[in-house]
Amino acid sequence: MLVLGIESTCDETGCAIVDAGKEILANTISSQIDLHNQYGGVVPELACRRHIDVIIPLLDQALQIAGKSLEEIDLIAAARGPGLIGALLIGLTVAKTLAFVLNKPLIGVNHIEAHLYGAVMSQHTPIRYPCLGVIISGGHTSLLLMHDVGHYQSISQTADDALGEAFDKVAKIMGLPYPGGPIIEQLASQGNPKRYPFRAGQVKGRPLDFSFSGLKTGVLYAVKGTGGNRGTTVILSEEDKKDVAASFQEAAFQDLVSKSLRAAEQYHCRSLLFGGGVANNQRLRHLFMEATPLLPCYWPIPALTLDNAAMIAGLGYHRYRLQGIGDPLDLDALPRIAIT
Ligand code: KG4
Ligand code: ZN
Repeated sequence: MLVLGIESTCDETGCAIVDAGKEILANTISSQIDLHNQYGGVVPELACRRHIDVIIPLLDQALQIAGKSLEEIDLIAAARGPGLIGALLIGLTVAKTLAFVLNKPLIGVNHIEAHLYGAVMSQHTPIRYPCLGVIISGGHTSLLLMHDVGHYQSISQTADDALGEAFDKVAKIMGLPYPGGPIIEQLASQGNPKRYPFRAGQVKGRPLDFSFSGLKTGVLYAVKGTGGNRGTTVILSEEDKKDVAASFQEAAFQDLVSKSLRAAEQYHCRSLLFGGGVANNQRLRHLFMEATPLLPCYWPIPALTLDNAAMIAGLGYHRYRLQGIGDPLDLDALPRIAIT
């Protein structure tokens, strides 16, 4: 079954063609980092305009790469949330229009669930269930018990910032460009992680939940002094920046690793599965491998780690099979949506 996937939740536009939920025939992507990094974050109005400019050329490109025509597509899958409402509506409207004109079924996909599926799609061996789903993206941080694709139970989430968001905010505090993750990782690899005593927060009564906003404030004070605010000029040397990056990254990751392992033990998980942009971080992968030698860790391949449409098409295939029927053409975009 050939599935056309469409992604437009935030600052990447993507069109992909995937066969039977697994074989990627085309996975085109257009990133908007160049557009937003001067503002230190995503500007929704600019994001929407760029989605409109690139989405049809990307669709044409995906069909060309796959060597397929629109008539050969069996199912159209689009991310329906979570994300920016205007951005979601652009991808969803293209998907609905194609479904209507071509008389093909439409399926709306949860973008965060699709990030986890990106790791499933990346494996050559079957996943060992039950598995702990670790979602670490720019907008979400949560742990899930996963019994199979499409069957989840929520375990914990963040009380404030998402992990990727904390990387982005810390980068902004240090005067570094958006997105913060890759540059913080690079600086951290040359820094001393023990120099600053940063710590991630704990949530009262919910020991597996996350809190990264106090950690970010700790960095703000270390960088700009205790009376500092975001407008204060940065007083760090280049060496200091490396140490701040390393100390922040290590504190955030130690917290993620220890809570994930506790959850995996408590819920009798036989493996761990990672989804979202922070899963790109090599230091994080190393820490998990070191801490869980007996539990397989499933990571997405690079093309399926950051936002992409192949994960949307892949998950769309399974969602359609589970539902047994497509979604209605008046399906809503949902800027806030949980995994169910
Ligand atoms: O999954 P994603 O595309 O975002 C959402 O769907 O929300 O991931 C983007 C996030 C950004 O916050 C970015 O800073 C972070 O992933 N990120 C990283 C790395 N690469 C991207 N964080 C840490 N280390 C990285 N190497
Ligand atoms: Zn994403």
